[in-house]
Amino acid sequence: MPRILHISDVHFGPPHLPRVADAVVALAEGRQPDLVALSGDLTQRAKAAQFRAAREFADRLPAPVLAVPGNHDVPLYRVWERFLAPFDSYRRNFDRELEPVFRSPRLFAVGINSARRLTLTGGRVRRSQLRRLEARMLEAPDGALKVVVVHHHVVPPPRFGAGRPMHKAEEAVESFSRTGVELVLSGHQHQAYQATSEQLYPRDRSPVLIVHSGTTTSARGRGGERSRNTCNWIEADEASIRVSVLVWDDRSGAFVTRSRHRYPRRRVTPYLLEDRPF
Ligand SMILES: [Fe+2]
Ligand SMILES: [Fe+2]
Repeated sequence: MPRILHISDVHFGPPHLPRVADAVVALAEGRQPDLVALSGDLTQRAKAAQFRAAREFADRLPAPVLAVPGNHDVPLYRVWERFLAPFDSYRRNFDRELEPVFRSPRLFAVGINSARRLTLTGGRVRRSQLRRLEARMLEAPDGALKVVVVHHHVVPPPRFGAGRPMHKAEEAVESFSRTGVELVLSGHQHQAYQATSEQLYPRDRSPVLIVHSGTTTSARGRGGERSRNTCNWIEADEASIRVSVLVWDDRSGAFVTRSRHRYPRRRVTPYLLEDRPF
């Protein structure tokens, strides 16, 4: 039964909250996930020291960490660096790999980099990234839960924030569905929400569960999560994927369960739907 701790938008730099980060480490130590998924915005301003602090935090977690860049991990004001080497600081100080893969018999997770030098906050993916993802997903062991980790949202948040999802979102979701991805983990909106792809992109194809974490360790919560911090605890078995939204409780100094959700799991094989007449 794969178990994932999904955290996001940790924003090392001025808005980062070290006490909450310590609680994330304690949470992971207590629950022992197979994987910690960190869906972008590791820093506030893509500074070397901020990436190094994020690296130290990731190294304290007692599980493999799969992280992807967010828009805040591209320099905003260092214009030359932004255009000529937007991910140089990330690579030198956090991880050389921008689109990592986690492989295990029961869990196969792939990161996608949706941050760009030319867009200040919005995200996009290229077709070549989707083709590479599809090729990688074919390597997943039979029966493994296939997961994508990407910073920007492929479905809009229900209550607050930029309504438009990232560029090529529908194409990305179609690619995920076709290759048997069952779960997408994202951030960026600084609020926790969940959707299935069929709610927004109703087609005759395998649905994808899309789960967002709020900002887990920063003072940048938005909308209903202003001054709040959230993360997700995810467990899957043969029949379902279960998501618990955990919220920071300042009084107890720990994350506590805010809500629980259960989604039936449909086993799909790559390209199965392609063979069906529409
Ligand atoms: Fe963020
Ligand atoms: Fe972001």
